[in-house]
Parts: sequence; structure tokens; C-alpha cells
Amino acid sequence: MQNFTFLNKEIISKLNEQHRTPFYVYSQKVIEKQCQAILAIPAPFGLTARYAIKANPNTAILKVIENTGFHFDASSEYEVIRCLKAGIAADKIQLTSQEMSSEHLELIIKEGVRFNACSLEQLKRYAAKAPKGSEISIRINPGLGSGSSRKTNVGGPSSSFGIWFEQVDEVKRFADGCGLRITRLHSHIGSGADPAVWERAASLTLAVARQLPEVTVLNLGGGFKVARHSDEVSTSIEAVGQTVADVLKKEAEETGRKYHLELEPGTFLVANAGSLVCSVDDITNTGDEGYTFLKINAGMDMLTRPALYAAHHPCLPLSDSSEKVEYVITGHCCESGDLFSVSADDTLEPRSLPKTNIGDTIIIEGAGAYCASMSLKNYNSFPQVAELILDKDDQAHIIRKREEMEQILANEVLPSYL
Ligand code: LLP
Repeated sequence: MQNFTFLNKEIISKLNEQHRTPFYVYSQKVIEKQCQAILAIPAPFGLTARYAIKANPNTAILKVIENTGFHFDASSEYEVIRCLKAGIAADKIQLTSQEMSSEHLELIIKEGVRFNACSLEQLKRYAAKAPKGSEISIRINPGLGSGSSRKTNVGGPSSSFGIWFEQVDEVKRFADGCGLRITRLHSHIGSGADPAVWERAASLTLAVARQLPEVTVLNLGGGFKVARHSDEVSTSIEAVGQTVADVLKKEAEETGRKYHLELEPGTFLVANAGSLVCSVDDITNTGDEGYTFLKINAGMDMLTRPALYAAHHPCLPLSDSSEKVEYVITGHCCESGDLFSVSADDTLEPRSLPKTNIGDTIIIEGAGAYCASMSLKNYNSFPQVAELILDKDDQAHIIRKREEMEQILANEVLPSYL
């Protein structure tokens, strides 16, 4: 029997009796453990940890994370509204968004949500509505990127995220001119495991903070890499935490400025706290020289990372067989790109797995972050799947119901001329 990160045969059998596959299942215990690891970082002048909601925005997940003491980073006005509706206090929420509508800007100012301006234009729109003397955060691009591919790198010259570090002077002049106070500085460059990259990113961000005398809070974003399978390396939170703490202490010695640290992980908290439980729907092959395809009843509509980034998620059958078979695992969408076993260069990558039969359960691991949240909704008209959480006693609770066909059709309109 395979080893699962937080499931076991008994829990899976119980879930299968009560719920129809596919469904996501999350572990409260794993989420809390990950939160505690972040909160234990030895920030010399204080720490606020924010959850990057985009990783998994389900209200129940937000509540579990809030209860550990976390604050939140929203990537759209809609995530802000989601938090407010969940009863999360406005002063625990920060908005860092690529897009800013004036309608929602008013809501954010009225509610007292912290705004993290990602461009001069955003700052101008904020200034037009906010009272004079308001405190503001700015997101900079420190000139350095990190991440496993172009699609997950959010720093450096090829990234549009944040104010280019050499343009901070202009932004400061504008803020001074209209009476906004830049008291918080933010950078997020993508995901990386190497403490040396964190050291460099922190130092570059501090160099910018030296131009902004009112800044007291330094937010270094998220991006703590977690290993989803045995060939990947996780960030050592202890090593990164110590590295950042040392950089902050050195800066305090040199300049006398003591920064309150903020971090905003998403992946680290939830990636390995979630699995997609699905079933084998069919098994076919393309002859002796070809491949054996294990076709599952899940697909890129509900878990896009393999199709989008060639990401490797372990797909583990609940099978006691000692016989191994090389399977290419394919999703249920009518797309040849809907593969769950794909190599980094986007070619078919058969996986050696215990012999599996039609109807057997498959557990797709590392599926807590950017999986349900990045689903393609109803491609091929497949409904959005249910999500469950296991509480501290491993009892399952539904946190999102499976979508019904009526809901898929609800917003479609048939014009009268048809
Ligand atoms: N803060 C900001 C401003 C962000 O844009 C992000 C992620 C985070 C924090 C959290 O980063 P994390 O700790 O999750 O790496 N869809 C990709 C990841 C995109 C991340 C976008 N920004 C994936 O599936 O890996």
C-alpha cells in the first residue's frame, strides 16, 4: 500500500462510502502545523503573517487559518469581499491586486482594508478617493525574480508585478505631493527554496526602503516552496527565517531602522494539506510499443497545474497489488493536454504504479494550493467538485457542495429570437 501524506486506507474507504468521487479533501491538522511553522519565525522586530487567499479561498480554510493568528492578503476585490463575508476584520486584510475598479476602491477605503499599490496608476486612483494623510503600502519589483518557470516567476525585468525599483523616487514624489504616507513596503518575487535568494530579495527591498523614511513594515511576500513529490526540495522555513532575521538585524545596526516583518505564504500552508480523490474510469493501451493509459474521472477542469505548468502531482492508487505497471495517467477532458503524468518538458511520463483496476480509487496529492482555486470551472460541462475538510479527529465535513447541472446553466440566457 502507498503512503499518503495525511490520508490512510480507513479514512479513504469512509469518505468513499459517503461521497461520490471526484472530491477535494483537506486536513485541518496539516494546515495548522504549517501555520505554526511560519508563526515561529524569529522576526527580531515583530511578525505579521498573512495568508495569500488565492491559494485556496474556501471560507472554512480561511477560518482555520485565521484561528491560528494569521492575517490575509487578497488578490482581488472579490477576495476582500469573501473575507468580509466570512467575518474577518477589515484591518486584517490587505489588497494586492493587478486590477483596481473604482467601485471596489470605495468599498476598501470605507471598510479600512489596507491597500498595497502595485503601480503609480493604482496609487493615483487611490489618492483620488482616500483622505489626506492616509497610510499606504507599495509593492515593488526589486529587480530579481524567482520561481520554477516563467509562469510562476513574478519579479525581474520580464515581470509586470509591482513598481520597478528604480521608479520609487517618482512614486514618493507623487505620494508626498498628495499627502499620502508610504509606511509599508512590499515585494513578492515568486517561489524559491534557496535562503540566498531570500537574502538577496530582502536586501534589495531594504535598499528601496532607505529611500522611504516613513516605512516601518517590510512585507517580503510568500513563495516558500514545498516539495510535492520526492524529487523536489522544500524551503527550510527555519533557514529562511533566520536569514531574513539576520538581514533585518544588520539593517537596524547600520541605519537604526527596525522593521516589522510581514510574510504572506499561500502554497506553504495548504499545498500538502489537500488531495483530490478520484477513480479509475477506464484503462486502454496503444499496443506493445505504445503506452498504457489510466483514465481517471478527474481532469484539467478541476486541477490545471499539470496541463498549465507540467507540474508533478503524485497520483497514488489505493491498491494492494505488488505487481507494477507503467501508466500514463490521463484526465477526463477532450484535450490531449489533459495529462497527470507529464515531464517538465511537457511530454508523456509513464509512472510505475501498483496494478490498478477500473473503479479503483486514485489519490492525487499536493492538491491543496492553486488546484480548486484555479479550476477551469465547467469545461466539457463537468460540474465543480465537492470539497471536504478533515477536522482534528479526522472527521470529514463538506465545505463546498458538488455543483448541480442547474447551477451550471443558471446564468445562461437564451435570446427570444432563437
Ligand atoms: N503574495 C503575493 C502578492 C502573491 O502574488 C502570491 C502568489 C503569494 C503571496 C503567495 O505565493 P505562494 O506562497 O503561494 O508561492 N499558480 C501558481 C502560483 C502562483 C502564485 C501567484 N502569487 C502555482 O500553482 O504554483
